[in-house]
Amino acid sequence: MTTLLEAHDVSRSFGGLQALAGCSLLVERGSITGLIGPNGSGKTTLFNVITGYIKADTGRVSFEGKDITNARPNAVFALGIGRTFQMTRIFARISVVENMLVATQREESWLRGLTRSKSSKSELDNAMEWLDFVGLARLAHLPAGALSYGQRKLLELAYVLVADPDVILLDEPAGGVNLTLINEIGEKIRSLNAAGKTFLIVEHNMEFVMNLCDTVTVMHQGCNLVTGRPDEVRSNPLVLDAYLGGGDDEDVAEEMSNG
Ligand SMILES: Nc1ncnc2c1ncn2[C@@H]1O[C@H](COP(=O)(O)OP(=O)(O)O)[C@@H](O)[C@H]1O
Ligand SMILES: [Mg+2]
Repeated sequence: MTTLLEAHDVSRSFGGLQALAGCSLLVERGSITGLIGPNGSGKTTLFNVITGYIKADTGRVSFEGKDITNARPNAVFALGIGRTFQMTRIFARISVVENMLVATQREESWLRGLTRSKSSKSELDNAMEWLDFVGLARLAHLPAGALSYGQRKLLELAYVLVADPDVILLDEPAGGVNLTLINEIGEKIRSLNAAGKTFLIVEHNMEFVMNLCDTVTVMHQGCNLVTGRPDEVRSNPLVLDAYLGGGDDEDVAEEMSNG
């Protein structure tokens, strides 16, 4: 295995609040890596630093061995790092397929298309193909606002896939999604991973993380606390302590300890 994406000793504070305090993370090429931790432990902030939405105060981010620390979001995206957001960012009033065409036309997608010298398939065909992949093709002409929350998450996934990223960062893909769609999202991730895509996934649903990921890093108070296989992480007392000490994550701690 080789390292595809690395955050090394990253710190970032907001005013007096230290959101990241020397956090390090390795993502191996071809892996499905999980990133978990109590609410407020810095997971989304780390995603934001990696993808250029927030600058690190100190520390380094590298991708394929190249330093990309504090690169702009469109530059990071053009290099092959795609992401979804904890709160979906789709346009509710235009149709599902129009949302996909917006994705295709984003400047950074276009740039990325150039570097990848994509086939001459029309943008519409390409958009429809990815909608079909996530099971939304039959809803292509509905306003995106008519989709359920889970379906919006699938649309976001399709939206990111248009640009053919090497690594995909998902922020809570299963959050607020019904069980059938959670399983569907899990299957899509597996099949994309089998086709060579690397994933870094933040998710509170422990069953989802433990079934899907080959490596899990647990964050606590802005630092990486433990990294290991799901079963190692699940039985690590430090991890249970982190969740129990976290205040509002007792359900998760209970779920983890019950295994
Ligand atoms: N843009 C911001 N401005 C101020 N504080 C922030 C900002 N983003 C995150 N934080 C704070 O940083 C901490 C870590 O947040 P976050 O990375 O969202 O945690 P997680 O995703 O693990 O729940 C929290 O205390 C949060 O309130
Ligand atoms: Mg978050």
